Amino acid sequence: MEFMDVIRQRRSIRKYRPDPVLQEDIEYVLEAARLAPSWANSQCWHFVIVNDPQVKKAVAQAGNSWTAQAPVLVVACAHPTRPGTKGDQQYYMLDIGIAMEHLILAAADRGLGTCWIGAFKEEVVKKALGVPESMRVVAFTPLGYPAESPRPQQRKALNQIASSNRYEAR
Ligand SMILES: Cc1cc2nc3c(=O)[nH]c(=O)nc-3n(C[C@H](O)[C@H](O)[C@H](O)COP(=O)(O)O)c2cc1C
Repeated sequence: MEFMDVIRQRRSIRKYRPDPVLQEDIEYVLEAARLAPSWANSQCWHFVIVNDPQVKKAVAQAGNSWTAQAPVLVVACAHPTRPGTKGDQQYYMLDIGIAMEHLILAAADRGLGTCWIGAFKEEVVKKALGVPESMRVVAFTPLGYPAESPRPQQRKALNQIASSNRYEAR
């Protein structure tokens, strides 16, 4: 798919078909995440692919329980101190955000749905997956073939979000 078409067609998908995701497609989306840029190339991420129904249920119980119906959950963990901080900037959050968006766009390219999940109880996910105490769980996403075609959500106009040479908020 054309790059801008992938970006335009991606939606947050909250209903999934039960069909399993091809291993090749899982590797494709992980490869896209692997190639993401990061602070000082620190690559602080670790992705857990969850397809065991019991484990999926345990993760989904942390928040957004509907995600258990997707065939796969991808859980994005981060080593919080590896990229370091500058002032109050926590670079691991940015690094994970970029890598997850790579993964999400690669999924859209393969006709797979995703939905960034930020609202969950981190301790519940950590326990379900055996994530070490020193790591953070930043986000997860269901991954699977969409069983819905949501309309595009509204976005601000270009002139509301960008200006030339000077900050001008409209
Ligand atoms: C950081 C972040 C956290 C999000 N957390 C959730 C969430 O917990 N549950 C959910 O259903 N959607 C979540 N979303 C999805 C947003 O609601 C969605 O991206 C937004 O409404 C725009 O819709 P679209 O993705 O279809 O364009 C999250 C998105 C982002 C970027």
